[in-house]
Amino acid sequence: MKHLLKLLDLSKDEIIEILDLADQLKYERKHSIPHRKLEGKSLGMIFQKASTRTRVSFETGMYQLGGHPLFLSANDLQIGRGEPVQDTARVLSRYLDGIMIRTFEQKEVEDLAKYGSIPIINGLTDFCHPCQVLADLMTIREFKQQFDGLKMCYIGDGNNMANSLIVGGLKVGMTVSAACPEGYRPDKAVLDFAEKNGGFTLTDKPLEAAVDADVIFTDVWTSMGQEAERAAREAAFKGYQVNDEIMAAAHEGAMVQHCLPAHREEEITEKVFEAHAAEIFEEAENRLHAQKAVMVKLMGE
Ligand code: CP
Ligand code: NVA
Repeated sequence: MKHLLKLLDLSKDEIIEILDLADQLKYERKHSIPHRKLEGKSLGMIFQKASTRTRVSFETGMYQLGGHPLFLSANDLQIGRGEPVQDTARVLSRYLDGIMIRTFEQKEVEDLAKYGSIPIINGLTDFCHPCQVLADLMTIREFKQQFDGLKMCYIGDGNNMANSLIVGGLKVGMTVSAACPEGYRPDKAVLDFAEKNGGFTLTDKPLEAAVDADVIFTDVWTSMGQEAERAAREAAFKGYQVNDEIMAAAHEGAMVQHCLPAHREEEITEKVFEAHAAEIFEEAENRLHAQKAVMVKLMGE
């Protein structure tokens, strides 16, 4: 594994190795066992969109590994004034040991990897959110001990989270159902992968998707960059809410996961969110451990 651009690129074994290392790093941090595996290394973090979790978990994670994180706002970089990504990649490769980038187009992330010579980590694009879903898989395994026989259900927009969850869930051996309205379906490349893989169902009926689910996921109806579509999206996603009815259809003891930020009473009710807050905030914490594992794999080994 040279980069983390999207989960489609990873094998099941590579995903499991990251999760195993993430568990180990979490254990070490809990027991104050130092793990300065990236001493002397620098990570550039390019942000073209807002972030709370991704920025803070990467920055503090790099610090805990003994390395040096650099926050690079696109507003301040020449890339924001039109310097080509090919040139940015070749320049930054001469200073840094890795780059984490959050941006709009997946192509920009793929181009950084193509033209640069250091590991590139996708910190969210319009297409996918692999770091988040590695943390999600880590959390599911933590609460359920295994993936075999589990059913993951996603309700809402067929966005970056849906794309990564479908791929990640199927790769580790869960069955996956998704409920998305017409016009807001997951990406074709993801649906093609899911069809070939098997174990996937897509519907426009949230209650149907939730039947017997062991873990229910949702995400915001309006992602970053789509703010102008908010009204149309609110109309399209009416009925795509994780609420008591959905939880009643799921398995007893089903988990709820949300990448956050959450919009209460839109994609999830306050009641369901708060009833599952322990799982949701463990998921947020696991961003730190999962991303440290990714950085050690890519920059330390
Ligand atoms: N879940 C997630 O990526 O959060 P941020 O947008 O705060 O980084
Ligand atoms: N789908 C959301 C995820 C945020 C972490 C977005 O792209 O804004």
